[in-house]
Amino acid sequence: AKLLLLHGPNLNLLGTREPAVYGATSLQTINESLTTQAKALGHSLDTLQSNAEHVLIDRIHQAGQDGTQFILINPGAFTHTSIALRDALAGVALPFIEVHLSNIHARESFRQHSYFSDLAKGVICGFGPHSYTLALQAADTLLS
Ligand code: DQA
Repeated sequence: AKLLLLHGPNLNLLGTREPAVYGATSLQTINESLTTQAKALGHSLDTLQSNAEHVLIDRIHQAGQDGTQFILINPGAFTHTSIALRDALAGVALPFIEVHLSNIHARESFRQHSYFSDLAKGVICGFGPHSYTLALQAADTLLS
């Protein structure tokens, strides 16, 4: 199937950004490893990171038209703020999994609410870069 992996703001800094919280793996490494894993499962994976809400929204709209069947998304801080990004996912009505590197429930209270979780097929958080691998495995299971 055609899959899309979206990363929200500041995730371009992965590897150097608060490594105690987010780990030492770069976004490029995560994207390459997920792309390889997706291929091995017989899927194609497109990836996009943006610090701009509208770029992520436009890519979700495009996914609604380009045959994308499943979205994996780490909305970054937009998790806790963006009704617009939530509405985009609801608008295209594509199934998605919400992914976080850190366990947002074990952190500041403002991170404990997500605008996405109730719409998501599921939420995976707290496993560092492995959260993405687990999300891809779950998507593969849901698609088969
Ligand atoms: C994050 C958690 C968010 O609270 C934070 O704003 C991020 C990253 C994570 O992957 O753990 O940017 O989504």
